[in-house]
Amino acid sequence: MKKLAVFMVLAPPLLGTVLFGYILVRGPRMTVQHHVREFQMVLPAPAPGTVSVTPRPDRAPGEAEAAALVNPVPATPVAITQGRVYYGYYCAFCHGDTGAGDGPVGNSYVPRPADLRLPRIAAYGDGQLLRAMLTGTGHEPVLERVVPPGHRWPLVRFLRSLGSPR
Ligand code: HEC
Repeated sequence: MKKLAVFMVLAPPLLGTVLFGYILVRGPRMTVQHHVREFQMVLPAPAPGTVSVTPRPDRAPGEAEAAALVNPVPATPVAITQGRVYYGYYCAFCHGDTGAGDGPVGNSYVPRPADLRLPRIAAYGDGQLLRAMLTGTGHEPVLERVVPPGHRWPLVRFLRSLGSPR
């Protein structure tokens, strides 16, 4: 009689524990459900013969193309002033107001943003500089998607006017 009483007291919690454990280990979990991570989703390829109706004139030039490009914006004070404003929009927080690579956001970067006054950068051709500033290392998200075409050449003009570090 006593044994039966002990059994009746102990059995339900024991059973409950076993059931709970089973559900915990084998039971329905999130993994069972279908889920797509947006950043891992591979878009289906367009059908063969598809032609894009929106060509991308705003893409940065390729390496070969860049070598031949010359800045169409003349080196006027107006263009440089415009470039300075655009620099404030897109670049200064990383490359710093003077181009030294010491902007408030840039300070946390590894590698640090380039010092835009270096001879290495002055040695770039116009197109190469344009390409470097739109697609270069450290420029995520790629600036070709951020800087509109009309702002680009004045920016290059402005970069040219930065001078060299003291
Ligand atoms: C999010 C921060 C960030 C922003 C915004 C940014 N840059 Fe940079 N930039 C970097 C980093 C980081 C590097 C890489 C430095 C290195 O590789 O040593 C770099 C490198 C460069 C270089 C040198 C590329 C080379 O080939 O050496 C140029 C030129 C440049 N940036 C221009 C610009 C211009 C112009 C803008 C604005 C349109 C801009 N950057 C905006 C972070 C930034």
